[in-house]
Amino acid sequence: MKKVIDLRSDTVTKPSEAMRKAMYEAEVGDDVFKEDPTVNELEDYAAELLGKEAALFVMSGVMGNQICLHVNGKPGDEVICDINSHIFYYENGSPAILSGLQLFPVYTTNGFLTPENVIPVIRPIEAYYMPRTKILTVENTHNRAGGRIYSVEAIKLLKEVAVKHNLTMHLDGARIWNAAVESNRDVREFTSYFDTVTACLSKGLGAPVGSVIAGSKEFIKEAFRVRKSFGGGTRQIGIVAAAGLYALKNNIPRLAEDHKNARNFANLLAQNKFIEINPLEVETNIVMFGVNSRENLDFIKIFAGEGVRLLPGTNGKIRAITHMDVTPDDVLTAAKIISDKVNEINSK
Ligand SMILES: Cc1ncc(COP(=O)(O)O)c(C=O)c1O
Repeated sequence: MKKVIDLRSDTVTKPSEAMRKAMYEAEVGDDVFKEDPTVNELEDYAAELLGKEAALFVMSGVMGNQICLHVNGKPGDEVICDINSHIFYYENGSPAILSGLQLFPVYTTNGFLTPENVIPVIRPIEAYYMPRTKILTVENTHNRAGGRIYSVEAIKLLKEVAVKHNLTMHLDGARIWNAAVESNRDVREFTSYFDTVTACLSKGLGAPVGSVIAGSKEFIKEAFRVRKSFGGGTRQIGIVAAAGLYALKNNIPRLAEDHKNARNFANLLAQNKFIEINPLEVETNIVMFGVNSRENLDFIKIFAGEGVRLLPGTNGKIRAITHMDVTPDDVLTAAKIISDKVNEINSK
């Protein structure tokens, strides 16, 4: 049977033998009473890695972001995010549903907020008839921008704006590990500018479930309460946290392999004149490409028929994500399959 190469997302990974063993052997207790030793260890370990006073294990990246927004703002407050951010695009309008928050999605051409595009949308303090701008969110790496990295320097400039205007900074760091590994910097260099952070364990790090949020002790105390309100208080969840702990201890440096695979994939696709791609824009594990053809075809379906699974990307492009369950050879095979099929279609 032909092998299916699944490049839809880095969330499709299955836990490795070693990770499953860690889960099997995990000591557990009731986490709602804070008595699960594995969860407690994960939270302490994550807080230290992220350079924050405390951390909290949550079920998903969305849950993490939404708890952070809920704690950081109150109904009627406004949250600045970029128009392609996950919080605006893919979280079901939850800031409105769960927290009465209004999002202010800033139009950016490349997904990056800067002082130039943020300052004009901050509401004047004296305007009693406008919402209060309260939270500034940054997504790093940026999913819909093709896994691109906000540099520490770019974040620093935003922090100056946030301090000046009394805004809380939240990092949607679902893939902050990728940003840190690729930039060869400690993850704390990125997170230090943020009041609150969400970081995922179930993407490139390969855990089956879970994210962590981190911030001050006071913030996490409140977040613990909100997690319960959002239905995220769970019991012997150490069995799952063990996978996240294993992921944090073992799977961060290997993200560099995913980035290399993504670059190789992009470079191969770039050799095909019918494929639109700029390999220089591939900074981490996400690749976006377009296909030119005379007919308007569903290329995602066509490539799936050839055994390569992909998803729609931004602005009509196709998205591929490399991860720990695809090998360097898989990625080269996938690029060849795509390229051959595109040539075949265009030669008709
Ligand atoms: C940037 C970003 N933030 C948040 C999330 C949400 O994570 P989850 O699917 O665990 O809720 C994702 C998921 O893909 C993401 O890419």
